Amino acid sequence: MLNLRIVWNIGIFVVACLGGTQLAMAQTGSTAGQGIANTSHDARLWTFLGTESQICVMCHAPHNATSDGPLWNHAMSAVASYKLYGSSSTLATIGQPGPTSKLCLSCHDGTVAILSFGGNTGGMTLIDAAGATARSVIGQDLSNDHPIGFAYDAALVAKDPTKLKPTSTPVTIGASSTRLGTIATMLLDGGTKMECSSCHDVHNKFTVATLSGRGLVKVGTGGSALCLTCHIK
Ligand code: HEC
Ligand code: HEC
Ligand code: HEC
Ligand code: HEC
Repeated sequence: MLNLRIVWNIGIFVVACLGGTQLAMAQTGSTAGQGIANTSHDARLWTFLGTESQICVMCHAPHNATSDGPLWNHAMSAVASYKLYGSSSTLATIGQPGPTSKLCLSCHDGTVAILSFGGNTGGMTLIDAAGATARSVIGQDLSNDHPIGFAYDAALVAKDPTKLKPTSTPVTIGASSTRLGTIATMLLDGGTKMECSSCHDVHNKFTVATLSGRGLVKVGTGGSALCLTCHIK
């Protein structure tokens, strides 16, 4: 059994042992909307030179942070070119993931160790820890993922009338904590760009529970409400 993570729950411990090399890395029973504590992104749940006591530290530091993101503390991926989504019906100009998505990909492309933060290097990547087929590994091939890295703006809607107008369509994100705005203000990075954070709130504050209890999604997946937030279908 891999020993990267603190085993916090005997049930999961047993599953992890029975499962051989697959590490049980599910959330620790955190609830949608209740914040980042006890989610997969809580550094305290990972053993790191003993025990880590801070929650935010895998991603942010108050000092000596990098300019890759807001007070960013995690090593960035060296992958310069991801394989992009493309299809004959795509009207958007899909580009490489934007700077905000690259923060997610610093762990989720599977090339950088999860615990490479604060100048530390080495250890397990998501691929090592979860196995290359684990769904948490987004990898370097984004052609089988919902497109990101493009402008969803008035120009796109003019070409594609099956999309709701981003600046005037109201959206409520979250459930126990909610925010009301438009597609542009609630879902689009900088008000225009489709990125990982369009659908996910990594801080688990403005999130809605999913059937599987995972996903950190801003709008629920029941009845595909999330998809129908932007798509007229
Ligand atoms: C797994 C990585 C991760 C962890 C852990 C994390 N953050 Fe963040 N944080 C991000 C990313 C990525 C962004 C930029 C994009 C976004 O907001 O989704 C961000 C943005 C922010 C911002 C600026 C934008 C905003 O939303 O206000 C603040 C402030 C912030 N985080 C505070 C915190 C605090 C406080 C904690 C711990 C309680 C924390 N974060 C834990 C990844 C993380
Ligand atoms: C510091 C590393 C790191 C960063 C940065 C990071 N993640 Fe994660 N993420 C993880 C780990 C580790 C897991 C747990 C993997 C597992 O359980 O298989 C995870 C799990 C997830 C999950 C599934 C589990 C859940 O709780 O729903 C989602 C969704 C997710 N991340 C989205 C994001 C998004 C979106 C960003 C950027 C805004 C991001 N992550 C940034 C490390 C990271
Ligand atoms: C169009 C919306 C959308 C975008 C954009 C998006 N995701 Fe997701 N993601 C989802 C949904 C929906 C789920 C599944 C939630 C569930 O289990 O019900 C999910 C699940 C995940 C999971 C968990 C897989 C699992 O079951 O363990 C991870 C990790 C993740 N996304 C990371 C990312 C990252 C990183 C990006 C950007 C590169 C991204 N997502 C962009 C909608 C999106
Ligand atoms: C924040 C808005 C938003 C959300 C949420 C969203 N999408 Fe999209 N989606 C878009 C935009 C914009 C495009 C690019 C469309 C284009 O190129 O014409 C797109 C592209 C797609 C495509 C590719 C279309 C093509 O022509 O190849 C599919 C399929 C799709 N989305 C399905 C979904 C599903 C399923 C969900 C829910 C899990 C979802 N989308 C959630 C905005 C969104």
